[in-house]
Amino acid sequence: MPARRRPAKAPAAYQSLSTPGPGLHLRGPGVQLRIEALADDLLHLQWTHGTRGKPTPSWVVSPWTPPRPAVQTGIGATTASITTPVGTYAIDLRSGAWSVTDRHGLQVFSAAAGATTVSKSESTLTLDLAERESVFGLGETTGTFNRRGLQREFWNIDVLGHAPAIHPALKQLYVSIPFALSMRDGRAAGVFWDTPARQFWDIGQTRLDRWQMKASTGAIDLYLFLGPEVDHVVSRYTQLTGAMPLPPKWGLGYQQSRYSYETRERVEEIAQELRKRRLPCDVLYLDIHHMEGYRVFTFGKAFPKPAEMIRRLGRKGFKVVTIVDPGVKNDPKFGVLQRGRKADAFVKAPDGKTDYLGEVWPGESRFPDFLNAGARSWWAREQQALSEQGVAGIWNDMNEPANFARPDKTLDPECLHRTDRGPQRHREVHNLYGHHMAQASREGLLAAGGSDPSRCPRPFVITRAGYAGIQRHALVWTGDNSSNWDHLNDAVQMFLNLSLSGVPFCGGDVGGFLENTTPELFLRWFQFSTFTPFFRNHSNIGTIDQEPWALGQPVEEICRTFLHLRYQLLPYLYCLFAEARSTGAPIMRPLLWHYPNDPVAVACGDQFLLGRDLMIAPVLRQGAVARSVYLPNDTWIQFWTGEPLVGGQHVVSEAPLSTIPLYVRAGAILPFGPAQQFVGEIPDDSLMLHCVPGPQGRLDWYEDDGETQAYEQGQTLRRTFISRVRGRTWSLDVSPAVGPFTSRVKTWRLVLWQARHKGRLRLNGRPAPYDVVEDQDMIVADIPNDVGPIRVEYSPVV
Ligand code: GLC
Repeated sequence: MPARRRPAKAPAAYQSLSTPGPGLHLRGPGVQLRIEALADDLLHLQWTHGTRGKPTPSWVVSPWTPPRPAVQTGIGATTASITTPVGTYAIDLRSGAWSVTDRHGLQVFSAAAGATTVSKSESTLTLDLAERESVFGLGETTGTFNRRGLQREFWNIDVLGHAPAIHPALKQLYVSIPFALSMRDGRAAGVFWDTPARQFWDIGQTRLDRWQMKASTGAIDLYLFLGPEVDHVVSRYTQLTGAMPLPPKWGLGYQQSRYSYETRERVEEIAQELRKRRLPCDVLYLDIHHMEGYRVFTFGKAFPKPAEMIRRLGRKGFKVVTIVDPGVKNDPKFGVLQRGRKADAFVKAPDGKTDYLGEVWPGESRFPDFLNAGARSWWAREQQALSEQGVAGIWNDMNEPANFARPDKTLDPECLHRTDRGPQRHREVHNLYGHHMAQASREGLLAAGGSDPSRCPRPFVITRAGYAGIQRHALVWTGDNSSNWDHLNDAVQMFLNLSLSGVPFCGGDVGGFLENTTPELFLRWFQFSTFTPFFRNHSNIGTIDQEPWALGQPVEEICRTFLHLRYQLLPYLYCLFAEARSTGAPIMRPLLWHYPNDPVAVACGDQFLLGRDLMIAPVLRQGAVARSVYLPNDTWIQFWTGEPLVGGQHVVSEAPLSTIPLYVRAGAILPFGPAQQFVGEIPDDSLMLHCVPGPQGRLDWYEDDGETQAYEQGQTLRRTFISRVRGRTWSLDVSPAVGPFTSRVKTWRLVLWQARHKGRLRLNGRPAPYDVVEDQDMIVADIPNDVGPIRVEYSPVV
């Protein structure tokens, strides 16, 4: 943190400036506090320095439009309070101490006298940590799953090899999301301090019972989420910071990258190998070597006729994504630089007049001012050059932004941005740089796609840096990890916590980026990544080849099996993406999401759920051929053996190299697609519907064209699948299709698990034929996908 200019003073007394109404407006010594309930379970608190003036609006939270809840405000001689149907915020007007309690009077948050201070350039907030409180979220952060005990500085930087074993005390990373989910005794709550300036959190490290936060700003812009359900907290947070748009379906497929495939020949060779070896893959990446001397938006001599190359790859079912870094080479002959200067689009040096010069891959570079709308549209126009060659997606890297020219690895904090709302020093807005670069990239892809949504390809943008709300513009990949077991371990908690922080579409470099991987590590990483939302293999320059076949034939074969499984899972995954878009629910979920009252499940950070119905326990130790798995309270079927297991216990799962411990929840309804070489190779007209009898089963089926923006105009289809078991009868009810999109599915191939006896199958009340898969206790029946309601029943004949 920069040296404090003036000590922050604790306010001694508050007085009310408002009459009882929908919110509270208080004034304390040198500070104002406004409190408003945006929803029953969402409070917005703004402390601002000075006794005049208004809070500055958020950079990422859009003005709140939903109707405000009915609240009661009370202003007494010593306390002021605001009560919603879910909880009460009360502040002691004499001391400034405040607390939030739920409707049963249980404490949700509390801050002691003097715990909330605001000075001109620094603000602090210290919350009490309860004894059994766990803290999750904070976006991309290394370390333990439960963030309690960690220190974290929100200041985006480029950091190589960020595994805890390499950098045990690492506090900063590429992405800053100052949002946390707190859990105690099954009750969830959330905190979001919205500022893109430097922020520092100490969650019970220095003081075991204190969650200390401070930021280099003269205001506290705070949202408190009262829960008490986990999904309510995360969905409110997503409502504030924005929903993830749907990616094209191919973005869910396997992706192959390396720093770098240095020539056109090498890229084509990789494509050929993938197809020849029947290793499904949708996307190939071009890292920085594709450019002419690292000049952004160009193709160098090693990539002659890029449009032709991309067309040829397209015929084989590949999409091409290129890296786009922010630094524009300071070469006076370079067209992008010339036009950027003409548009006056670069970040200014501290003098406010000359363009700031830093150093990145191209050498001396200027940095586009992505916080300025004019600069963003200039950038989008430049990016058109890539779209015209057929590039399907943009990979934003080095956008913290990274700058080799300074020891702190980023821009001079006094650099000047001419933002959409006026001049700002870099230190005030640092964490927004990557966010707005991703915005520019996405907007550029949309502009290149034209104005007809049904013809406009869905943007696909990957980013390394970001701030709260980054999910609106890009998926997040977690940067330069290393090929070691420690980093594989860290990846699990990292994606889970990112997922809880509003970023459902995330993933990391499969196999590890830095250092040479090993066949075993690669395989375990690959198996785990089969179930992560983003699935891309990437490795550093100078490391051994890391394509699945480069690690030996046994590895290649197992990878093929897992790739097939990934592609079969795509319809299920796509429904989870749709759910994430509409509710903010993570795709990859920690156990606490569905089992918040089970302390063992809450603490579990090395297993995860994919949606409600699949549980994955990745193998994270070298040499391990078995691992302990916690089964929460449900019945679980071992995916590979079909063995049913009762929940509420730990089991030891065998995990020879060829498998990963994988469990299906009794009640699951899993739509499976074909094992294909790329998305769209085989039409989606016949999908499997794996159903496991169990007390509650539900699938929220979602369909659209998977490629264009037409879904944004409502070209979608939804229906609900509900399964039940009553006595010995299993039933499935499919609600009528809603929405104008015509389903591509003609037939559901129902696969009913654990159908041990011969029995009767009825379709809409009439007997229907089926086949028995004897040795697997399954029956299989084809169900026409009518748009009206469908009812299927199966009763064994005893
Ligand atoms: C950064 C990226 C990495 C990329 C490399 C070269 O280190 O994080 O993924 O390969 O730059 O562009």
